[in-house]
Amino acid sequence: MADEPTTRADHARDAAVAAALGKLDLDAKARLLAGQDMWSLPALPEIGLASLVMSDGPIGVRGVRWTADDPSVALPSPTALAASWDPELARRAGRLLAQEARRKGVHVLLAPTVNLHRSPLGGRHFEAYSEDPYLTGEIGTGYVLGVQDGGVGTTVKHFVANDAETDRFTVDNLVAPRPLRELYLAPFEAIVAGARPWGIMAAYNQVNGSTMTEHRYLQNDVLRGEWGFDGYIVSDWLAARSTVGALLGGLDVAMPGPRTVYGEALAAAVRAGEVDRSAVDDAVRRVLLLAARVGALDGAPAAVTEPPAPVDGEALAREIARRSFVLVRNEARDGRPALPLDPANGTIALSGAAARDARVLGGGSATVFPDHIVPPLDGLTAALPPGRLTYAIGADPSDELADADQGFELTAVCRDAEGRILGTASVPGGRLQWAGSDLPDGVTHDTLHSVELTGTFTPRESGEHTFGTRGLGGFRLTVGGAVLFDGFQAPGPAADPFEEFFGAPVERARAALTEGERVEVSLLHTVFKIPDAPISAVALSLLHLGPRHDPDELIAEAVEAARTAAAAVVVVATTESVESEGFDRENLRLPGRQDDLVRAVAAVNPNTVVVVNTGSPVELPWRAEVAAVLLSWFPGQEGGGALADVLLGAAEPGGRLPTTWPAVLADAPVSKTTPENGELPYTEGVFIGYRAWERAGTTPAYPFGHGLGYTDWEYETIAATPSEARVRVRNTGRRAGREVVQIYLAPVVDAEADPDRVERPARWLAGFASVEAAPGESVEVTVPLRRRAFEIWDETAGSWSYVSGTYEVQAARSVTDRRLTALVEAADRTP
Ligand code: BGC
Repeated sequence: MADEPTTRADHARDAAVAAALGKLDLDAKARLLAGQDMWSLPALPEIGLASLVMSDGPIGVRGVRWTADDPSVALPSPTALAASWDPELARRAGRLLAQEARRKGVHVLLAPTVNLHRSPLGGRHFEAYSEDPYLTGEIGTGYVLGVQDGGVGTTVKHFVANDAETDRFTVDNLVAPRPLRELYLAPFEAIVAGARPWGIMAAYNQVNGSTMTEHRYLQNDVLRGEWGFDGYIVSDWLAARSTVGALLGGLDVAMPGPRTVYGEALAAAVRAGEVDRSAVDDAVRRVLLLAARVGALDGAPAAVTEPPAPVDGEALAREIARRSFVLVRNEARDGRPALPLDPANGTIALSGAAARDARVLGGGSATVFPDHIVPPLDGLTAALPPGRLTYAIGADPSDELADADQGFELTAVCRDAEGRILGTASVPGGRLQWAGSDLPDGVTHDTLHSVELTGTFTPRESGEHTFGTRGLGGFRLTVGGAVLFDGFQAPGPAADPFEEFFGAPVERARAALTEGERVEVSLLHTVFKIPDAPISAVALSLLHLGPRHDPDELIAEAVEAARTAAAAVVVVATTESVESEGFDRENLRLPGRQDDLVRAVAAVNPNTVVVVNTGSPVELPWRAEVAAVLLSWFPGQEGGGALADVLLGAAEPGGRLPTTWPAVLADAPVSKTTPENGELPYTEGVFIGYRAWERAGTTPAYPFGHGLGYTDWEYETIAATPSEARVRVRNTGRRAGREVVQIYLAPVVDAEADPDRVERPARWLAGFASVEAAPGESVEVTVPLRRRAFEIWDETAGSWSYVSGTYEVQAARSVTDRRLTALVEAADRTP
């Protein structure tokens, strides 16, 4: 467990930090504030300081290399974790991640992401928790506590208002003080208060005219001054733009290195009198404190000396997945709900490309490389008696090139300009991403001239296979001894410096290949160095797309299997080119012919269950035509096993929606993510998510908080005061279950009596708690209500203001399914 504030260990750490600081000269201090490479800070042996190592990111710990050589446990997406509505489960996830970090020599995890689901189009929606700031703060607090229980630092990100990806390096998000405080800052504030995170990451974007890495008001005045945050602030990667501006704005560390605005530039700025030495000392002190906390500073007691008991990563990944799946629809068929399925009834016809090649995590910096993935097909095959499952692709969501993963065995061979081999490495999924010092042993950016991805490919289907590349520089592609492409990819005018890393796929060649017949494959890449690049990087992918089939035939095949089956399970999904870091979505449609597949299967099988394998909302235009809809998010490496548990009833789906699912994008009250003239005004104020849906009076496909289990609940009694709600619920179904009791606070407004009142949402989430009960059992739960739940940010006074008056305390199963209410008179009380 992390120590409480101002313990003896805190004093000892402060003393060790002060002593270490006193021994450093200006140049060493300036050096410590700048990355030495992509992921670490320099060691300073003269003060017993080890190199501090950071790593992404929310659902796993990648370590300092983009390689599968040292695999990472991949947990379900952050949206999924939030769908559990269980901060304690988030804490257990955090403890596992700390264990993973320690195993990989990582001191600081670059997570959690606590930006909000402002627009369903946000490209990193899957990586953030919720549209609700309170739920986000609770889950984030659990997560941070868990990681830090294990003695590993967290970096709560991205501070602040990085709620979309379009023009993320430059966009100026214009957010009025009230929504800034009540929505976007709120999770950060809650986590600082509840978990004392050791780090915060400053976002790329601007807020109200100042870029976040230089935002003196938000970083120094609010975060440190008002909230008492005592950790370090690190820039998002390449977000620091000015030496003096960033230091004065409160930024401690500029990442990545070695070319940053700190280091030598900072020492020079101090010597030129542009910044005070004391500002540098303050930043260094905070970095040394971080080092002390994680045990990287000799003589300072680490915050955790005995990490918690080891966690079984696979078991936890599967448990979180089960607990996160949201059953949004489960219609009765033949007198009983469609789910769970009863395998005794006959065969199950599974379809959907993602049932075989599951999408288990979102793209971008959150990517990790698990040592195995359990797709739905494998999970169900393992759980069902032989012969009870059929599989047909049905529809492939992607006709795009994807990383050469399935059937490829590739090694990267690094050579110098003379063709001498410098080193080799494995290449997970045909993708290679090396930045800074993240290079195979024996290889340096200076000596590296070419990288050859070489090995074999065993097709799982006969037909015309398409190959492509991602990355900049020279490419020569050879398949089965024939050179299919030899050319050069020049950089585009892209503004995003991560273009190389997450760049666009380009088709290069096609080859007719036979199922099961292994062919030699080589992609020879001549390294291209971007002039003036802030970091040296080598990034390329071999891409592949299997033979295309007539989409109508694929659907027909799945329909034939479904026609005679007892039940049909269709897995639909987005692709990496739809949901990933670096761009926002254009629409909420499922790619390819997946909607047609669902409709066609549902037309022949009344027991059609659709599993939605996406990180964020998609339109489900057929939802009323199918028996059941289960949202499985990006379920992590054990997703297929968890899916079998839930579909077959070994466990109930435990999730509740952390975000409203629109029926169609056009209904979403807030969706725009494209800035105009560099600005994105948050004109909706405090009305995002369900707050906005309720105000607009529009009905979504599925409301915030919604989710069904496998039993029924009756809400029996409620008693409330302004500081707590007590609710009794009874499990009236036939199996044990778990219920998330949600407490909303709705102000009782007398518009006539108070015409000048500040407009507030109709209601907001003020608390929640989970209960478990056996069939017939009733359980009482007490949910504390915080003072803050009754407050608004007073823009005139620049402070929180308690709004006295009558409130309805509502106990609910979702924001729209409210079961019991009690009135309370809230009068101002001391905090
Ligand atoms: C992302 C951060 C991430 C960092 C390092 C950035 O592009 O925005 O979330 O931690 O890269 O990978």
